[in-house]
Amino acid sequence: MRNAAATAVGIMLGLSGLAPNTALAQFSPPVVPAAIDPATLFSRQCGTCHVADAAGGPRQGPNLRGVFGRKAGTFEGFAYSPGFAASGIVWDETTLDAYLTNPQALITTSVMAYRQANAGTRQTIIGWLKEQR
Ligand code: HEC
Repeated sequence: MRNAAATAVGIMLGLSGLAPNTALAQFSPPVVPAAIDPATLFSRQCGTCHVADAAGGPRQGPNLRGVFGRKAGTFEGFAYSPGFAASGIVWDETTLDAYLTNPQALITTSVMAYRQANAGTRQTIIGWLKEQR
């Protein structure tokens, strides 16, 4: 093992000695993509089924403008699954986080076909939703 490692280092050093620019390019880390802004993240994650602006009508899911602080299942004109009416849930950081993690764990009848396991992604979207008043 020791010898192999030493040889590998020797080869790398040899390479960079021969062609420094090439060696540098080969070993530089991959470019990290720029952070996605929250509005774009919402549109990519939720936009197929939801809008969150005054103009948009419901899609497959209800309009999410003003959802923060709203009682679950009360966007006018949207036909929610039956569990919403009886849920007694008000949407805040905690309830939204639980719902996006696993909708059916919070409201068993929920037909929302979406789950987000990444806490950071959930937090970014919830933070953005909070501002859509
Ligand atoms: C595949 C379509 C789909 C996707 C993607 C989706 N949803 Fe939904 N969502 C729905 C549907 C359908 C409902 C209504 C559920 C029901 O009636 O059982 C819903 C309901 C909701 C509700 C309850 C709203 C209320 O008025 O009580 C919230 C909050 C919500 N979605 C947030 C989100 C967020 C945030 C995202 C993205 C991170 C998202 N959803 C992604 C389809 C979707």
